Amino acid sequence: MVSLDQLVEDAKRDFSKASDPAALEDAKARYLGKSGLLTERLKALGGMSPEERKSAGAEINRAKTAVEDALNARRQALADQVLQARLAAEAIDVSLPGRGQALGSLHPVMRTWERVETIFHSIGFDVADGPEIETDWFNFTALNSPENHPARSMQDTFYVDGNDAQGKPLLLRTHTSPIQVRYASEHVKHYGQNNMPPIKVIAPGRTYRVDSDATHSPMFHQVEGLWIAKDVSFADLKGVYTDFLRTFFETNALQVRFRPSYFPFTEPSAEIDMAFASGKLAGRWLEISGAGQVHPNVLRNMGIDPERYMGFAFGSGLERLTMLRYGIDDLRLFFDNDLRFLAQFPA
Ligand code: DAH
Repeated sequence: MVSLDQLVEDAKRDFSKASDPAALEDAKARYLGKSGLLTERLKALGGMSPEERKSAGAEINRAKTAVEDALNARRQALADQVLQARLAAEAIDVSLPGRGQALGSLHPVMRTWERVETIFHSIGFDVADGPEIETDWFNFTALNSPENHPARSMQDTFYVDGNDAQGKPLLLRTHTSPIQVRYASEHVKHYGQNNMPPIKVIAPGRTYRVDSDATHSPMFHQVEGLWIAKDVSFADLKGVYTDFLRTFFETNALQVRFRPSYFPFTEPSAEIDMAFASGKLAGRWLEISGAGQVHPNVLRNMGIDPERYMGFAFGSGLERLTMLRYGIDDLRLFFDNDLRFLAQFPA
């Protein structure tokens, strides 16, 4: 029979070999179970004399305590191991920066839209809106483009199912100019013609034409400007528009010229050109807007007497302004929805 000391050593070795709680319980049973090695020794005490039993009992109890201590130590060690493994597996690195919410940003054309509104608002222009599905009257006829007039072919139009009250087909507006007539007519209705305050308004919005290539998109954006008063002149229009361009492009080193042109709704009509003083495009005249003095027929269609009021108007492309501001050379980039392009315009 092995000595008690040997038994304790064996137990310690078995416990330390047990690599998980179940194996440890098996090892425990071999020593302290109902018929475990130590238990057998305790049972044998019954057959001893009282003298023998006393000293042997004390020895066995010491050995039993040593085995139990070793068992508890191993239990604790195994429990610690499990905990460590869990902590390692479920680790949260509190030093990592938070994930946050990725910020989107405005489309570059929308940035131009807002920028144009802010600039004109700051010099007293109202901002107006109008429907994208227009009537023949507001889009063409009221703007001095009568039916069958050749000027209508300047704008190739999308028609929409359905007719207006005059039985004319509805269409997608080809420019923002119809808002001139809508806004001015309401203005006159509201104030009457005698004491009405000047009309100063811009109207940015989506416009549509049957057109698609590197410089034309079937959907694009314009901003219309209208200024009607008793005493405005081309000089005022030129001053306001030049000021707008200088603010928009953030440079005073910018030239503006008016070049004769034709639009049915203005007489005289002009193309506004601008030239930067520095940068890649320095010195090149760039067409930036149509403009002109509002045609007397258009004023009449607004309910305004052309003998008493003068009007000036312009219509500029928001894509064009955006392309010049950021140096973008292909209009189609605006509508591809490619994040590699759009992410270059952070909030
Ligand atoms: N509506 C014109 C176009 O789309 C642009 C334009 C030209 C607007 C002259 C105006 C203007 O208000 O006076 O081509």
